[in-house]
Amino acid sequence: MDVLGSIDRSKLPAHVAIIMDGNGRWAKERGQDRVYGHHEGVISVREIVNASAEVGIKYLTLYAFSAENWNRPKAEVDALMELLVNTIRKEIEELDKNNVRLHIIGDFASLPLVCQKELNEAKEMTADNTGLNLVLALSYSSRQEIVEAAKKIAVKVASGELKAEEVDSKIFEAHLYTADFPDPELMIRTSGEYRISNYLLYQLAYAELYFTNVHWPDFRKDNLYEALLNYQQRERRFGKTSEQIQTTNQ
Ligand code: FPP
Repeated sequence: MDVLGSIDRSKLPAHVAIIMDGNGRWAKERGQDRVYGHHEGVISVREIVNASAEVGIKYLTLYAFSAENWNRPKAEVDALMELLVNTIRKEIEELDKNNVRLHIIGDFASLPLVCQKELNEAKEMTADNTGLNLVLALSYSSRQEIVEAAKKIAVKVASGELKAEEVDSKIFEAHLYTADFPDPELMIRTSGEYRISNYLLYQLAYAELYFTNVHWPDFRKDNLYEALLNYQQRERRFGKTSEQIQTTNQ
């Protein structure tokens, strides 16, 4: 079946968020080191970024490194940071040419300085691009993001810049890392785990969740199209009844 041809371009999720899981298991199944899996995972990153841009998705957020990932063995953390810097260095011109704009969410200051520098340059270089917004979640913890937002608002209330009764969801959202992005409408997690793992907890409130057993290094274009097609077959009700949704769609 031509999966790409079956996708309705007028009903795409504006924002797709992905938990790229299973690099380690993929490598282990092949008798290789975990880092080998991360290297192969980068090939999937490249393919999924290109496919997302081609199909017309406006925002793609990738969970590349969680705040909890700092607890992994130092050699693996170092390898991931190095892979990140090398990949950005290698891919940024191509991304720029393809009109992709790079964003970072997470505890940016906790990243090694060399990463910060490379990422800042890449962000600046692509700042005027108007195609796909590629958001990398790095040293990211959703709980930390929410707590920080609450703290920033508390400081503004204490200083009189904001009144407590003015705080609503719009103001709260403006203090999250994702202030400039729409909420994800589709969240994909690879590798057969059915968890959210501290990822975009606030933003995923109404997202459709899609889980696949495919390990991230095997997740390619067709797997993305399959997920998009599955998303398009779902009825998004936002708390309403099926009958109400069908009436508005007519
Ligand atoms: C999860 O697999 C994957 C990660 C923690 C890292 C994801 C990073 C990449 C795909 C490469 C770098 C990314 C960019 C954007 C250049 P896992 O190691 O938890 O797998 P396991 O659950 O099988 O152990």
